[in-house]
Amino acid sequence: MEEFLKRCFYHSGQYNSEEHFLELNCKLKERESSKLSNRLFYLSIPPNIFVDVVKCASTKASSGTGWTRVIVEKPFGRDLESSRELTKCLKQYLTEDQIFRIDHYLGKELVENLSVLRFSNLVFEPLWSRNYIRNVQFIFSEDFGTEGRGGYFDNYGIIRDIMQNHLLQILALFAMETPVSLDAEDIRNEKVKVLKSMMPLQLEDVVVGQYKGHNKGGKSYPGYIDDPTVPKDSVTPTFAAAALFINNARWDGVPFLMKAGKALHTKRAEIRVQFRHVPGNLYKRNFGTDLDKATNELVLRLQPDEAIYLKINNKVPGLGMRLDRSDLNLFYKTRYTREIPDAYERLLLDAIEGERRLFIRSDELDAAWALFTPLLKEIEENKIMPELYPYGSRGPVGAHYLAAKHNVRWGDLSGED
Ligand code: BG6
Repeated sequence: MEEFLKRCFYHSGQYNSEEHFLELNCKLKERESSKLSNRLFYLSIPPNIFVDVVKCASTKASSGTGWTRVIVEKPFGRDLESSRELTKCLKQYLTEDQIFRIDHYLGKELVENLSVLRFSNLVFEPLWSRNYIRNVQFIFSEDFGTEGRGGYFDNYGIIRDIMQNHLLQILALFAMETPVSLDAEDIRNEKVKVLKSMMPLQLEDVVVGQYKGHNKGGKSYPGYIDDPTVPKDSVTPTFAAAALFINNARWDGVPFLMKAGKALHTKRAEIRVQFRHVPGNLYKRNFGTDLDKATNELVLRLQPDEAIYLKINNKVPGLGMRLDRSDLNLFYKTRYTREIPDAYERLLLDAIEGERRLFIRSDELDAAWALFTPLLKEIEENKIMPELYPYGSRGPVGAHYLAAKHNVRWGDLSGED
């Protein structure tokens, strides 16, 4: 670490100054002792200056001997048009191969494991279709608000911040057909097919919410519009729930539900797969009238406390016949003692190694925006009012009606967690 830190330096300059990038180039050259020197620019900067920086970096500070790559952080535009425009501008200075669009959720351990679980165990893949799966849920919640990030957030909202990228990426990975190989292009080809098989979101399949101030246990929690960086009349959603459908043979009719929100009661990200009822279940009467309690559910908890568990029905030991829901579980903390790398550690290393599997290709990005852009325009043009929910609550009630419309219940069916 010390050796590494000794090689680090800070050079300040203007984003759009070619002169300053030339200075940076000189400083880098002084340190690059080997014949082959690669350069990776990581742009964690506001989107309106992406192009300026890329222009200066590529024309004045590209590597003369090795590769030059650029990592860009979202937001990649605000809609289909602006995202295409951004890609077009970036491509004036970079080839697609040089651009690494980061979606840090793809670097999370459990998201990486999703394909391993499915494609390297015989027991899951045969069930992975409309024949056995009733619905799939992608849930993201944070127990804090925008707190100081309102300036950025208000221009984007939760649909752009979380759904159009993090949750949609996981959905595409979840639902894709078996790729030809583990090569980046093969995997990304399959993900694009999923996105292209989906219908753009309809307003009637979406619920939006915004958190409001709330007093609890003698403490007061601010509402979204109390954030000084947010306009007082903002109708930007801090919560959204949506039902999406994939029109292909594997998933026809299966609701894929997404829910994302800030200032909710818990911090959690998970994928829940709810299976169909057992046909002609012999033990029906042991579950009373609520047959949902008898279905299996597979949960992949991305964070906190990474875990995979499968809810199964089990006989309670004893002379009688009582059934019980139990978990077949894999809790990472118990099974693995090693530290789980942060998503960024994995992704930065991948970019250095030129591994593109976990980065977003431009046609993927296009397909993702195509799904959300009409909805976003409708919400913004018609100033659709978000349903208010108290800070620290479970979010707007509308999300439950939306799920009920598609015969779905959010979260654990047995109400155990
Ligand atoms: C970012 C969003 O992409 O992801 C933030 O812009 C959000 O609003 C963050 O808080 C969540 O990431 P993580 O890894 O902390 O769940």
